[in-house]
Amino acid sequence: MGNRAEEAKQNQEENNGNMAIETPSIPLLTPYNMGSLNLSDRVVLAPLTRQRSYNNVPQPHAILYYSQRTTKGGLLIAEATGVSDTAQGYPDTPGIWTKEQVEAWKPIVDAVHAKGGIFFCQIGHVGRVSNQDYQPNGQAPISCTDKPLTPQIRTNGVDIAQFTPPRRLTTDEIPQIVNDFRLAARNAIEAGFDGIELHGAHGFLIDQFMKDQVNDRTDQYGGSLENRCRFALEIVEAVSNEIGADRVGIRLSPFANYMEAGDSNPEALGLYMAESLNKYGILYCHMVEPRMKTVGEKSECPHSLLPMRKAFKGTFLVAGGYDREDGNKAIAEGRADLVVYGRLFLANPDLPRRFEFNAPLNKYNRETFYVSDPVVGYTDYPFLDTSSYVTKKKH
Ligand SMILES: Cc1cc2nc3c(=O)[nH]c(=O)nc-3n(C[C@H](O)[C@H](O)[C@H](O)COP(=O)(O)O)c2cc1C
Repeated sequence: MGNRAEEAKQNQEENNGNMAIETPSIPLLTPYNMGSLNLSDRVVLAPLTRQRSYNNVPQPHAILYYSQRTTKGGLLIAEATGVSDTAQGYPDTPGIWTKEQVEAWKPIVDAVHAKGGIFFCQIGHVGRVSNQDYQPNGQAPISCTDKPLTPQIRTNGVDIAQFTPPRRLTTDEIPQIVNDFRLAARNAIEAGFDGIELHGAHGFLIDQFMKDQVNDRTDQYGGSLENRCRFALEIVEAVSNEIGADRVGIRLSPFANYMEAGDSNPEALGLYMAESLNKYGILYCHMVEPRMKTVGEKSECPHSLLPMRKAFKGTFLVAGGYDREDGNKAIAEGRADLVVYGRLFLANPDLPRRFEFNAPLNKYNRETFYVSDPVVGYTDYPFLDTSSYVTKKKH
């Protein structure tokens, strides 16, 4: 046998022993420049509330959780983080309005940066999705409305979440809330984050203002589409002026009706927001797919984010029910620049690597999404044993 043939045979044998997987690059694993940030792939960690930030302070166990999910040049979005002491509605969710919280975020952000990751903080306010136990001095939660939310079954499917009827913000109070977002954005940069994502999705405060099922105001923040979006856009402007539009993204879910926040014309709402955001030149717009009617349930539907994708001039992120195949298609067809993964990334700390090898995925366990254990269901999902896979790609 000639040298070549021998080499080929040897390679083949080696490959057979190694399950012979050679990985051509897939669309999800191609690089992308988001503004001045050079991303090495299109697979983004979704903001995922994990309720392990005791007393609203991020904990050291989050260092391991986030760094497990970091790759060089990968984008991560931190879990929803409260902008003020009225912003909370769930146990042990992190905040970013006190010095202590900012200091507590620093080692977490440092760990992500040490591995070359790019880290955005999702900042938000729950509005009426709260009750007086989470509010300072037992006061009523604030919202655009005083319409109460009906009790909801919690994600564990057993407990019922009770909500205190909200207090409608007066027109004069709104600039203070906008200012809370501005300060939180400043704090996020102080903590070392590369930018912030405004939580404008899922029925929380910003979404409550935008959606006509909730917003019943008669001032300049209610009524017309333009008026309902005013609060969101004032926040976009304030945070952009504070930290630079190139460090600002926003998450929107125009089609979702989670927490009784639906809209009678979600296409018009999504399009109006996408077009309006162009005025501020923000870095990205992150939209939840219409098929996600609630946070964790997928159902096929005829609507699409394409008109918003076409209208928005910055980077477009999509989320909701994506797997490897679906995500590759979205990138290949130009329907998105980046694909955001929630539950799959939660359960697979090395998700981009598994996509590279088309390897099997760990199954997520809903039961441990929100338990307060610092390890179980949090940092104990196993990594892929890559010894049986061969790759040409360097990580
Ligand atoms: C445990 C859990 C926590 C979540 N927390 C947040 C959150 O803090 N902020 C947010 O915008 N969405 C949150 N979501 C929604 C996800 O970001 C994502 O949009 C959703 O899971 C659908 O994407 P997936 O099908 O890839 O999981 C959460 C979802 C789950 C399952």
